[in-house]
Amino acid sequence: MFIALEGLDGCGKSTQLRALAKRLKQYKIDPVIVQEPGGTPVGEEIRKILLLRKELAMTPLTELLLYEASRSELTQTVIQPALASGHWVLTDRYALSSLAYQGYGRGLSLELVRELNRLATGDLAPQMTLLIDVPVEVALRRKGRVKDRLEGAGVDFYERVRCGYLAEISKVSRGIRLDGMKEISTLSEEVWSYIRPFVSAQS
Ligand code: TYD
Repeated sequence: MFIALEGLDGCGKSTQLRALAKRLKQYKIDPVIVQEPGGTPVGEEIRKILLLRKELAMTPLTELLLYEASRSELTQTVIQPALASGHWVLTDRYALSSLAYQGYGRGLSLELVRELNRLATGDLAPQMTLLIDVPVEVALRRKGRVKDRLEGAGVDFYERVRCGYLAEISKVSRGIRLDGMKEISTLSEEVWSYIRPFVSAQS
């Protein structure tokens, strides 16, 4: 199984990902966990450029290409081999992030983003995508502070990203919107209810 968690910064997806991994381990499934951008030596360097080097100005297209470069490296060198050897893979963000952030958020052509996503992923799509949806003001409050170039982009930007996620989640295979305002434990039960049938099918 290849599962992606998506949502705004501060939506709680990393917490849910950890909870899901713990559950899977109880069923003797030890998933490979990855995070975008990053997860490979070159991807980690790209991550630093994108998220830490705030002083570096770049165009939206450059930004997109860097996310896609990181994704391509991760997909080819980590995700595909892991799946091929029978592992589960859980990813904190995948191609839908670029559509939401660089497409809807930054205003790049959605067709262009889709095309580059296809290229970077080699058409490998998650079998399930869970979108943890929270209102923008909640996400920003949870995040606590303005941290990187995207988080400095403002409320309007995040409203567009959220709208993008909501518009696109129904179009992806097994794309599920979850209400991120629920209690952490309630939400993790809900996440589990979607994943559990696939665990039974395996064992
Ligand atoms: P990070 O702090 O790792 O994520 P989170 O806040 O979800 O834990 O930062 C990842 C940032 O990168 C986040 O602001 C979203 C952004 N991003 C894009 O804009 N496009 C993409 O394709 C990806 C993968 C991430």
